[in-house]
Amino acid sequence: MNLPERHYVADGVADKIISKILAVTDCNGADISINHFKYDQFHIGGAVATQELLKLMGDVTDSAVLDVGAGYGGVARYLAHFGGANVMAVDLAQSYVESAQKIHESFPFSGRVTYLQGDVCGDFSGAEMGAPLFDWCVWVHLGMNINNKENALKSMYNKLNNNGKIIIYDVLKTGDDILDEKCFPLPWADNGAQSFVGDIKTYENSLLGAGFNVVYKEKYDEILPKIINNPTPDDVIPFAGSDFKLCLENLRQLLACGAVAPWFIIAEKI
Ligand SMILES: C[S@@+](CC[C@H](N)C(=O)[O-])C[C@H]1O[C@@H](n2cnc3c(N)ncnc32)[C@H](O)[C@@H]1O
Repeated sequence: MNLPERHYVADGVADKIISKILAVTDCNGADISINHFKYDQFHIGGAVATQELLKLMGDVTDSAVLDVGAGYGGVARYLAHFGGANVMAVDLAQSYVESAQKIHESFPFSGRVTYLQGDVCGDFSGAEMGAPLFDWCVWVHLGMNINNKENALKSMYNKLNNNGKIIIYDVLKTGDDILDEKCFPLPWADNGAQSFVGDIKTYENSLLGAGFNVVYKEKYDEILPKIINNPTPDDVIPFAGSDFKLCLENLRQLLACGAVAPWFIIAEKI
C-alpha cells in the first residue's frame, strides 16, 4: 500500500454519509436537492465550492468529464446531476470507489457516473474509461497528494480532446514555507511525507510543462470566513485519517493564518 492509500481508508464512511443525507432529505421523494450533496464533498467549501466549480466550467451538458481523485464521488454526481455531464470518476483507493458507488445507488441521481479505481501517477493511456477522449478533466483537492504534478498532468493532457480543458481546485501554499510536522495530520495526509502542497508558480509551471496554458486562476478566499469562524463539529464524518476532526482543525488553523488557501485554476491544451 502506498502512502496516500494508508491515509485514505473509508471504513463504514458510505453508510454514515447515506444516513446523514437521509436525515436531511425526503427519503420517499424522487427529488434530488442540494442536501444530497451536503455530506459527500471532500474539499474546502463542500457543495458551495462545487457549485462555483460548475459555474466556472459553464455548460457541460453531455460533455465527457474525467474526475480524478474523485473521493466519495460527490463532485462527479453533482456535475452529472446538475450539469448533465457524463462523468468518469477515478480514485486510487478501491474502498472509496466502492463507497462512491454505494452512495450513488442509494439515491435517484440523474446523469451518468462511472466509478473506477486508478492512479493518476500511473499509466492512464491504456485505461478503460468509457470515453476515448474527454472534454474536461476535473481535479479537486488531489494535487496535495501528487509529488510529480507535471507527470500526472501529462497523463490528463493525453486523455483530453484537442479543445479539452482541466479545472483544478486545490489547496495551495501562499509563501515559501514548507508545512512542518506540527501542522499534521491534515485532511489529505497524516504527515509531511504524504503531502505535496505547491504554490501557484508550481502549478503554472507544471501545467505549462504538461502542455497546458493557464486561462484562469482565482484564490477562492470568499469561502474562508465561514470555515475559519466555525469550529469543526464533533460529529463530523471521518472521511480519512485516524483523527479526521483534528485534520480539519489543523487545516482551519493554516487557513486562518493564511499559510494556505484554496485556488481554482483552469487551463487549456496549447
Ligand atoms: C481530499 S480527497 C478529494 C476527493 C474529491 N475530489 C472531493 O473533492 O470530494 C483526495 C482524493 O484523491 C485520491 N488520490 C490521491 N492520490 C491519488 C492518485 N495518485 N490517483 C488517484 N486518486 C488519488 C484519494 O484517494 C482521495 O480520494
